[in-house]
Amino acid sequence: MAERVEIVEVGPRDGLQNEARPIPTARKVALVDALSSVGFRRIEAASFVSPARVPQMADSAGVMAAIRRAPGVRYMALVPNLKGQEAARAARADQIAVVTAATDGFARANLNASVADSLARIEPILREAGRDGIPVRGYVSVVTDCPYDGPVPPSRVARVAAALRDLGCAEVSLGETLGRATPEQVEAMLRAVLDELPPDRLAGHFHDTAGRAVENVEVALGLGLRVFDASVAGLGGCPFAPGAAGNVATEALARRLSALGFDTGLDPVALAQAADLARAMREG
Ligand code: HMG
Ligand code: MG
Repeated sequence: MAERVEIVEVGPRDGLQNEARPIPTARKVALVDALSSVGFRRIEAASFVSPARVPQMADSAGVMAAIRRAPGVRYMALVPNLKGQEAARAARADQIAVVTAATDGFARANLNASVADSLARIEPILREAGRDGIPVRGYVSVVTDCPYDGPVPPSRVARVAAALRDLGCAEVSLGETLGRATPEQVEAMLRAVLDELPPDRLAGHFHDTAGRAVENVEVALGLGLRVFDASVAGLGGCPFAPGAAGNVATEALARRLSALGFDTGLDPVALAQAADLARAMREG
């Protein structure tokens, strides 16, 4: 039997957060509902962040309340602080994701905190989530290059990933936020992180600005990672990483993984339908 690789669909959060034009809640709900029949085990459907910082995500409670929850799918929400965690709990998120960065420059732009302060904010979130029995994913942003602090030493990424593990994150997703890393940079970064965490605790989160995200996934596959984030129709970018493109497109990644002999569990026809919906949202 083909080996399983999980694609975590992050388009409704990482994709839509970057759309400047307000998107009606009902259209976001329709996208999540379409994605729910594709075969994903996890969909990042929302984020509970400051609406002044990311206005597009301000209706996340409405999205979470209106989606049709498919059996076997966990709906994840990104939270930056306890206030976000309380909102995610009220919205019945099945999993939450916390976020920090490998550099102080990016952490300040994204979270208005240093890396150390963002980790201190994450600690009580993990404690509460533990009480709720909710698994927590930790994101590390800018794992190879930072738009503010420049090239990022792999040892620093390893340190931050280990800190998230020590706080209790079940999984650490390594964010190549700018989408410009070469496979060589990704390999060096991963080798350092793998000294701290085993591959089954890691996910790869590659943006695709330079068109090398699929190659970077292949490097990570070679080093044993089996979970990758992707965004339907390649939606998105990060509001705090100017010029960065969306995540690797789910369709392209699923096709490549199938060609390599992996089983993603995704239905290509249902995925193509969801991608049509996502493209229509981007086009207005
Ligand atoms: P802050 O600016 O330091 O200020 O926010 P604050 O904590 O004092 O709060 C300011 C205002 O926001 C207050 O409202 C708070 O109540 C409100 P006011 O009193 O002015 O009316 N507020 C909130 N409202 C709703 N939900 C909340 C919340 N928290 C505060 N949870 C903070 C710090 C971290 C909250 C802010 O900087 C923030 O929300 N940042 C998140 C930015 C974000 O969402 N970035 C994109 C996601 S990360 C990403 O895309 C990278 C990733 O994909 C991986 C990769 O590619 O690298 C994951
Ligand atoms: Mg991202």
